[in-house]
Amino acid sequence: MKTLKYFIQTAFLLSLILMIFDSCKTSLAIKEKTGSVLWSENCSRCHYSPDPEEYNDAQWDVIAMHMRVRTNLTQEESEKITRFLQDAN
Ligand code: HEC
Repeated sequence: MKTLKYFIQTAFLLSLILMIFDSCKTSLAIKEKTGSVLWSENCSRCHYSPDPEEYNDAQWDVIAMHMRVRTNLTQEESEKITRFLQDAN
């Protein structure tokens, strides 16, 4: 009986550890998203995805500040999107 209890506890702990590792994998994938992916996933929620060619680099810098707050992006995500838009205009 003692062995069974030990076995169940170990299995429970192992699955917990695996779950934690699995959730780390997900956040890594989000971190690896490119500017174009973040742009297509986030910037069309409230309006059409803006065309990169519609604005120049300086205008994108200002727009990024405004839309970062609305979209609830991290600094890094916002910078990736801005770089993508500025490279594509
Ligand atoms: C929560 C809703 C929301 C999200 C998400 C959002 N926007 Fe907007 N966006 C708005 C609203 C509302 C306006 C118009 C009013 C304004 O400019 O404040 C706007 C206007 C704009 C404009 C026009 C600005 C102008 O001066 O005409 C651009 C370009 C733009 N958004 C780009 C983006 C980009 C890039 C993203 C992704 C990072 C984004 N938006 C995400 C709500 C949003």
